[in-house]
Amino acid sequence: DSGTAPGPGAKPDGEIVLGFAQVGAESGWRTANTKSVQEAAKKAGITLKFSDAQQKQENQIKAIRTFIQQRVDVIAFSPVVESGWDTVLKEAKDAGIPVILTDRAVDTQDTSLYKTFLGSDFVKEGRSAGEWLTAEYADDKGPVNIVELQGTTGSAPANDRKAGFAEVIKGDGKFEVIASQTGDFTRAKGKEVMQAFLKSHKDIDVLYAHNDDMALGAIQAIEEAGKQPGKDIKVISVDGIKDAFVAMTQGKINVVVECNPLLGDQLMDLTEKVAAGEDVPARVETEEGVFPQAEAEAALPGRRY
Ligand code: AHR
Repeated sequence: DSGTAPGPGAKPDGEIVLGFAQVGAESGWRTANTKSVQEAAKKAGITLKFSDAQQKQENQIKAIRTFIQQRVDVIAFSPVVESGWDTVLKEAKDAGIPVILTDRAVDTQDTSLYKTFLGSDFVKEGRSAGEWLTAEYADDKGPVNIVELQGTTGSAPANDRKAGFAEVIKGDGKFEVIASQTGDFTRAKGKEVMQAFLKSHKDIDVLYAHNDDMALGAIQAIEEAGKQPGKDIKVISVDGIKDAFVAMTQGKINVVVECNPLLGDQLMDLTEKVAAGEDVPARVETEEGVFPQAEAEAALPGRRY
């Protein structure tokens, strides 16, 4: 029927327009993720409309509404927080524009509001952090006093990394999280909150940071307090950016649980498929490792972010 305008994914010239609403530029991980998405779009010949929400949900909602008005073919976004997305996702669905969640999930009853999720298993990452800790202290009677730097409040990685870690350590009463606060995934906040922890607790054994940037900020605070990070206070971190591997080779971080930001190529592949109306798996997970300090030197040259 020649009178019908082409719908999303059915452009006569075959060109795909992807609207991508990024969280912000809060961490080294995020910068690597943005670069990966931009480079992969270019390589795949997909037109990318990119928006940076500066860690604010309201900005992301605005960006998604703009993408709907512009009639992009596919919307992808990495939700700042888990809840509060149903209304805008319904608007995208009503407009016939498929949505891909990348990196972070949303909390909704209605899974028809998005086509697929591409990213990491954050609960597993938290468990890996906890498993390293329980092995490290297997022969120690304790008590082991832990401080935790949480990611952005309400975000999937903060909620899940906390839950996975807690699940593993709860089996052994010698581990206690004596303080836990958000550092918003940034270096500056990580340092500031660690300074406060060090002031109010003289007996910290372990720092568990939900990402490398907060760990690196906290390391500065630990050194300024006259203590040795990695020795006086053991440091567990998540992500695996190059700066964290360098800190590991210097003995300042004890273990890094990897979280892979290089999602660009997989995202473009999924974008092409959903734009063409093809079925895609409900969840696509990335593969990740755990790097203890002893492996850092050998792994550093091969790190891609
Ligand atoms: O959602 C992934 C997390 O967001 C990364 O671990 C953190 O560094 C980033 O800001």
